[in-house]
Amino acid sequence: MSVQPTREDKFSFGLWTVGWVGRDPFGEATRAPLDPIEAVHKLSEFGAYGITFHDDDLVPFGSDNSTRDGIIASFKKALEETGLVVPMVTTNLFTHPVFKDGGFTSNDRGVRRYAMRKVMRQMDLAADLGAQTLVLWGGREGAEYDVAKDVYNALERYRESLNLLAQYSEEQGYGLRFAIEPKPNEPRGDILLPTAGHAIAFVQELERPELFGINPEVGHEQMSNLNFYQGIAQALWHKKLFHIDLNGQHGPKFDQDLVFGHGDLLNAFALVDLLENGPIGGGPLYEGPRHFDYKPSRTEDYDGVWESAKANMRMYLLLKERAQAFRADPEVQEALRASKVLDLETPTLNPGETYQDLLGDRSAFEDFNADAAGEQGYHFVRLHQLAIDHVLRAR
Ligand code: GCO
Ligand code: MN
Ligand code: MN
Repeated sequence: MSVQPTREDKFSFGLWTVGWVGRDPFGEATRAPLDPIEAVHKLSEFGAYGITFHDDDLVPFGSDNSTRDGIIASFKKALEETGLVVPMVTTNLFTHPVFKDGGFTSNDRGVRRYAMRKVMRQMDLAADLGAQTLVLWGGREGAEYDVAKDVYNALERYRESLNLLAQYSEEQGYGLRFAIEPKPNEPRGDILLPTAGHAIAFVQELERPELFGINPEVGHEQMSNLNFYQGIAQALWHKKLFHIDLNGQHGPKFDQDLVFGHGDLLNAFALVDLLENGPIGGGPLYEGPRHFDYKPSRTEDYDGVWESAKANMRMYLLLKERAQAFRADPEVQEALRASKVLDLETPTLNPGETYQDLLGDRSAFEDFNADAAGEQGYHFVRLHQLAIDHVLRAR
């Protein structure tokens, strides 16, 4: 079957993904550095529509202004030649030792001010390149020792920084949307805003909550043993799914950053079904980029890197095709009805019904046969098996 990605699929990749040279805490790089210009050309050739980057992925930390201008000019030229866009950018607040205790929440005030300035500079470039979203991944915002971080005041400082960045974006006319990326740990022992739920709750405490959403990553939620499909469904419900990082992970362990679908395949199927077809009973669709944030394993040479980049898009498109077949199958539709999945669309109260009406409805309580309702079978296993049959192309 044809699984050729096109620009309409809105696939994007971080420059730091295909550009990861394989350095880990135990071993040296296994690949030579990748020229960002080559990354642009390759990703475009494979059918991606976008590329994203941290400030330091494109312009090495500490470069002087003329070097920076030169690098940005050749990057823009490559974008023009290929038609690739930059839908999102982000800021590296984690590699340089200055950020060893965090950026916005470092115990050192000077570091906090420096972090704000570094992000503002990247926002100027975001606007220049037409990016709509700024991702905020606070990998170093956290601690190894509970008593070493005043979490209450760290959250105050986090809020102070994000309020300032939003004000800057609005007053400069950048109109950026900010997406917080949760992660429970790694590189810090424990990271602030560890899950999608924490991040959504935090956003509500900001001055301009409407400008802030989240950028959940498959593996990061699964590192906390959470169900990514459920997390994404809730983010959509809050209208807070501003961006998404797709990859693969095998349960709670270190951040594996595998190819999308190479971890929990069935959860990836439900996720693609949700993103492409919307909630089963109807609801909002996700319109943003399908962004891959994975790491080509350090066992791979550059042929393997490009194969793995293509594998992400292939996995997504294969699952999309399977999800469409699943939804179109009359037996699945019948099973959804039999399992009462579609009944969730129906409000629990009648139109205009009050609690007095509910109290007066004997069929809801006094005459309700709880035992009979408790005896019914929901046939969820049959429904789940139908989904697996579709994933395995047994249907
Ligand atoms: C991770 C993260 C990072 C962030 C990226 C954006 O694997 O821990 O995904 O890669 O997404 O740095 O700032
Ligand atoms: Mn990750
Ligand atoms: Mn990520």
